[in-house]
Amino acid sequence: MKVAITGAGGLVGSTLVKRLTTDHEVLALKHADLDITNKQAVHALLNQTHPDLVVNCAVLNVDECETDPAKAQSLNIDGPGYLAEAANEIGAEIVHYSTNYVFDGEEEKLYTILDPAIPVNNYGRTKLEGEKAVMTANPRHYILRTSWVYGIGKENFLSIIHRQLKAGQRGKVVSDCWASATYVEDLVQRTSEIIDLHHYGIYQVVNEGICSYVEFALEAGRLVGVKESDARELLELIRDADIKRPAKRPRYTPMRCLLSEQVGLRPLRHWKEALADYLKTSMD
Ligand SMILES: NC(=O)c1ccc[n+]([C@@H]2O[C@H](COP(=O)([O-])OP(=O)(O)OC[C@H]3O[C@@H](n4cnc5c(N)ncnc54)[C@H](OP(=O)(O)O)[C@@H]3O)[C@@H](O)[C@H]2O)c1
Repeated sequence: MKVAITGAGGLVGSTLVKRLTTDHEVLALKHADLDITNKQAVHALLNQTHPDLVVNCAVLNVDECETDPAKAQSLNIDGPGYLAEAANEIGAEIVHYSTNYVFDGEEEKLYTILDPAIPVNNYGRTKLEGEKAVMTANPRHYILRTSWVYGIGKENFLSIIHRQLKAGQRGKVVSDCWASATYVEDLVQRTSEIIDLHHYGIYQVVNEGICSYVEFALEAGRLVGVKESDARELLELIRDADIKRPAKRPRYTPMRCLLSEQVGLRPLRHWKEALADYLKTSMD
């Protein structure tokens, strides 16, 4: 297949480019190559290049969605809509990534697509609207909700905490948020399996198991040889509400994928196994 990947410079996009290049002809479109909020440019590029599949990895991050709602609307809703519409016009399929933040996390459960989506921040709201824009514009859609993604290519808490603990650095960690963590390599591998099936709908792609940031940090520390007691000394536990960030985070949003179960895709490996694999690569 010919696959056009937008937002190809980001964490998921860059990992996906590497993975899909082995089996497909890939057009890696970084922000500078295609601004997905430019409707004319989106239509022109897809009409010229004629991909079989468009994969949208462009996004505005959680806090910026809160401080810049107009940009959140154009990047998380309008842009995905233009891509889906232009893909539909040339008969192409579309993959669009979404998030566990479509849920409010008020109940301690594994969230499925049967649960009502009630976002608690503007990122979640615009991602949910983005899903709808894609699904409305193109019936050949795969919506892939994922959660707490980490890997090589982007520095976030999950990807660097092992290094901080190993170096004996002190740091704050949110103690009252739980979700599914997802190793980006597992996410892109599953994406590649899903597009081979041509079964459209909403998937929730995450590693098995539930964790808090604290549990994730302690396991990452243990895997690089930091004792739990030493790690606990270094970590200052704080509540999400105590960090002054523009956007509130949902409290408890681990997910389970009903559609994967239906089409026979096994659950992804447990997050601890995936983390161990990541750390082997990351410490090389
Ligand atoms: N990372 C997570 O923990 C997580 C969790 C749940 C869901 N997801 C979903 O996974 C997907 C990918 O996320 P990610 O973590 O890979 O994001 P990311 O690393 O922040 O990458 C996003 C990319 O989008 C590009 N971009 C920004 N504005 C653009 C525009 N107008 N046109 C084209 N590209 C633009 C950015 O380029 P510049 O930096 O050059 O502007 C960046 O390379 C998103 O749909 C996100 O909602 C991620």
